[in-house]
Amino acid sequence: LRDLALEKDMKGLKVLVTAGPTQEAIDPVRYITNHSTGTMGYQLARNCMLRGAQVTLVTGRTALTPPPFVEVVPVVSAQEMYEAVTSCAAGQDIIIKAAAVADYRPATVASEKIKKAEGGWAIPLERTRDILRSLGEEKPAGQFLCGFAMETQNLEENARKKLEAKNLDLVVGNNVKVAGAGFGAGTNVITFITKEGVEPQPQMDKAQVAGCIVDKIMAMRAAK
Ligand code: CTP
Ligand code: CA
Repeated sequence: LRDLALEKDMKGLKVLVTAGPTQEAIDPVRYITNHSTGTMGYQLARNCMLRGAQVTLVTGRTALTPPPFVEVVPVVSAQEMYEAVTSCAAGQDIIIKAAAVADYRPATVASEKIKKAEGGWAIPLERTRDILRSLGEEKPAGQFLCGFAMETQNLEENARKKLEAKNLDLVVGNNVKVAGAGFGAGTNVITFITKEGVEPQPQMDKAQVAGCIVDKIMAMRAAK
């Protein structure tokens, strides 16, 4: 019930959140993916909804139940996520890209199950499109773009590069090797990276982290 008491400070705002992993098919029974559970993105969507925003959640396959009062767009692959996101990006006030999008996909998808044979197996891969980069290139005036940077080393330097290369307003950095951070953990340890600087945050549970990220976005929008 405490949730309902949240201030409706996002009333009238349109927010697009992406969440979860993408799956890149190899054949009808196999795919390439990553460890994302979608928790962070679902908590972000929920937090924005509770604060009165009109939320669209573009989500890869997860085991989670989406928050109520949110428009859910299910996708599987990076290409599907690219199409879903770019088709509704222009009208959004805030876009938060929490999804763990595959950087590579199999160059061809076999139409029948590939049978095992003697020896090893190498799968040729090709690059997927960087969704966030294309959003940054086409960012309308006044739109707020928030990306994530998941790193295992040199967090600040890598996150700063992403901030600039993708024309973002905010990067939420998280070092998956820190205890209590990253995939599958109930908690997260994040760092805000903006043009102004670097702000490490204390360890929080993922619902609190979501609130903290949305607070930061709202504060930065108000200061603009
Ligand atoms: N992202 C995206 N489309 C992709 C790959 C990443 O939109 N094809 C977004 C993610 O949703 C995330 C941000 O870009 O918000 C950073 O993702 P990350 O994997 O940390 O960085 P990359 O730019 O993919 O670089 P690398 O994996 O080499 O570190
Ligand atoms: Ca990546």
